[in-house]
Amino acid sequence: MKHTALIALSLLFSPLVSLASDISSARESELLNLLKHDCGSCHGLSLKGGLGPALTPDVLQQKPIEYISATILYGRSGTPMPPWRPFMSEAEANWLAQRIKEGVQ
Ligand code: HEC
Repeated sequence: MKHTALIALSLLFSPLVSLASDISSARESELLNLLKHDCGSCHGLSLKGGLGPALTPDVLQQKPIEYISATILYGRSGTPMPPWRPFMSEAEANWLAQRIKEGVQ
């Protein structure tokens, strides 16, 4: 009896869990805003470089999403590149990495 209830509950909630891993369009705007203002403060407003290197599609073309995403999440120790893990999930970092690689403006 108890088990049946648990199974019913997990069936009920599983669609919610998969929805939660999708990034809402509001969150997407937040991430793009962060990219422009926070990342832009070092990488340049149009990401063409500043204190940090340029993050343009030509520069990132050969670099895998996982590499870009890991740099965003964990930063580069010994350099000014900070870790952004406290501010975004892995899925969000992957999404942002994809946008940067495509050349978001
Ligand atoms: C305080 C300055 C600073 C901020 C803010 C910053 N970065 Fe960086 N970032 C750097 C520096 C400096 C490097 C170069 C690190 C090195 O020498 O390896 C770097 C490197 C990178 C790289 C690796 C580039 C490559 O070609 O290997 C990526 C990707 C990156 N940053 C993305 C971001 C994103 C996305 C944000 C915002 C969420 C961000 N950075 C915010 C300073 C910054």
